[in-house]
Amino acid sequence: MRYTITTDATTAECGVEQTVLDALLRSGVWMPNSCNQGSCGTCKIRVQSGRVDHRASPLDTLPETERAAGFALACQATVLSDVVVANPAGGHRETNRLRDFSALVSAVVDVAAETRMIVLSLEEPLQFSAGQYVEIKVPGTDIRRQYSLANPPSDTQRLELHIRRRSGGIASDWWAFDAVRPGQRVDITGPLGDFSFDEDSAGPIVMLAGGTGLAPMKSILCQALASDGCREIVLYHGVRSRRELYDLDFYREMEEEYSGFRFVSCVSREAGGDRAGYVTEAFLGDIASAKNYTGYVCGSEVFVDSAVKALKRRRISPRRLHRERFSRAAPISA
Ligand code: FES
Repeated sequence: MRYTITTDATTAECGVEQTVLDALLRSGVWMPNSCNQGSCGTCKIRVQSGRVDHRASPLDTLPETERAAGFALACQATVLSDVVVANPAGGHRETNRLRDFSALVSAVVDVAAETRMIVLSLEEPLQFSAGQYVEIKVPGTDIRRQYSLANPPSDTQRLELHIRRRSGGIASDWWAFDAVRPGQRVDITGPLGDFSFDEDSAGPIVMLAGGTGLAPMKSILCQALASDGCREIVLYHGVRSRRELYDLDFYREMEEEYSGFRFVSCVSREAGGDRAGYVTEAFLGDIASAKNYTGYVCGSEVFVDSAVKALKRRRISPRRLHRERFSRAAPISA
């Protein structure tokens, strides 16, 4: 059985087990989304008519009062009838269509302590925006995990993932650091997320990345420099120890090629890197005002919170501040 979802400007079909977000993104209709796990609230919509099942929507993100007022989380809710929803994105905006596809593992490289780069080769090109992520079905399991894409969208034949080992993690330990093999086929859904390069922005860019939060920054950096090779961009990368730094040769080459680009590695718990201490300290020491900057922040929840605070102290405009939090993955059954 299929129902319809009507938004301000379009109508999409939705299966009974399909979430509202999944149905809209697969139809090429943009809707804000970030975690796809019910925890961020980015995909909140107002149901104007029809019935939805809130499924696993957490009460923290969608309290009873909001449910009673007709709100729903598009990434969790399924439909029980034809529905009309107000899309917070407003109007009709085309997006990279969400789809299922498979890819082959083509390379597995240890790039730093407890950090791997896994490269997947694609049979068909994937259209995505720099900064977005994909969901990988961990081979041999029904578990899905989210990974940002580090390659630029122009790189149509491969996907590059940066994975940090988390002890006991089904994907970030067992698969990525043990079971993965070149030639292995991986099922993927994507692209997802609204952390992406702002094509309409102008002026300088500041990027603050913690750990493997560097992955989407690499994609955004390449995209930004491809559209304006003279743009002033500074990328701060924070790690705890020197052994966690990676991809340094790539960023040094980018500095040589693009005179407006600067890469600053920050090591917080020992000597090493370009700066001792935290990314936020380096940024606050270097930039007196971020008023005309576009900012990108990616890393753990703690890292993102402190980086956002630092950018606000330097008066960055909220509409030019883009952030992505890596949260502990909640298992998502296939
Ligand atoms: S709560 Fe739906 S995308 Fe985060």
